[in-house]
Amino acid sequence: MKFGILTGGGDCPGMNSFIRAVVRSALNIRPQTSVWGVVDGWKGLIDNSYRRLSKLDMAGLTSRGGTILGTTRVPELVWDTDLQDTLARNLHDNGFHYLFVCGGNGSLKASNVLNNIIVRENLRTKILVAPGSIDNDVCNNFGSSVGFFSAIDKSLDMLEWIRDTASSHRRVYLIRSMGRKSGYLSLYAGIASGAEYVILPTEDVDFENLATIIAERDKDTRIIVSEGYPKSLDEMKNTLEDIFQRRSIHREIRSVDMGYFQRGGRTSVIDILRASWLGYRMVTDAFAGCESGFYTSFYTGHSPAPMKLDEAANDDFSSHEDIPREFIDFAMALR
Ligand code: F6P
Repeated sequence: MKFGILTGGGDCPGMNSFIRAVVRSALNIRPQTSVWGVVDGWKGLIDNSYRRLSKLDMAGLTSRGGTILGTTRVPELVWDTDLQDTLARNLHDNGFHYLFVCGGNGSLKASNVLNNIIVRENLRTKILVAPGSIDNDVCNNFGSSVGFFSAIDKSLDMLEWIRDTASSHRRVYLIRSMGRKSGYLSLYAGIASGAEYVILPTEDVDFENLATIIAERDKDTRIIVSEGYPKSLDEMKNTLEDIFQRRSIHREIRSVDMGYFQRGGRTSVIDILRASWLGYRMVTDAFAGCESGFYTSFYTGHSPAPMKLDEAANDDFSSHEDIPREFIDFAMALR
């Protein structure tokens, strides 16, 4: 059999663990399999750029962040039907029996479109998709795409560092968190770090109330601001400073963006285990001749049936309104 592996969208910790698991499992279980990495994600599929992967190439990758295959965003894949046809045809013409994808929402949608063409044209390749994104906004995976917990770990470190300075100076810190339209990353980082307030993407923030919360604390206050929240940190700072002045609240405000630091670095244990298990399961399923599918959040050792790509791609899980109310109540109760 011939396998391809593609990492798509924003890189995230765990992608390398996934690549390693697919390559090692495939070559250990059936040594005659050939496994190819698609170079630079979806762009590599357009350019027909592949590199053969060996077991030795996988040394030292278990916990390394990013993706050794490279990745690109190709947004036109969603609407450019000529490009879609080319990619489906490239997969077939290159003899790939299976393509293993690890990526976010965009990669899931692209895989689904390609799979529909493959089925319609009776082409060869099956596509198996694993959720990989620090945003945790991929289909209905109940709390963890690969990379999500690693990004919380990084956020926790940064939020603890900021607390040292914030509490030494009794300052207020406005801290921007990545996470796109979903507030999962900021909410979970807030719960884990004990931050005083988390602003979700579409929240209608009551700044007077926020000022009261700050005034009631005699210490540091860390306010995590989700990426999807439209006001800039400077605008928020100005609004709060005006209120502080009017209400004689004597607190300094500073702001900082955790941004790309949340996305890189070492993979957390849970992401290593999950990504590795997903890779292994997908390979054994492929050897058993499975259909295309989306592998929703697997606990290591646990194997629910994969979802159909169509169903997964249309399960929009990209806004914070999909966070169960119970989680938000939980976060507030610990504040
Ligand atoms: O999807 C991961 C993510 O880091 C988002 O949180 C963020 O909105 C986006 O990617 C940034 O993308 P880029 O790396 O293209 O600037």
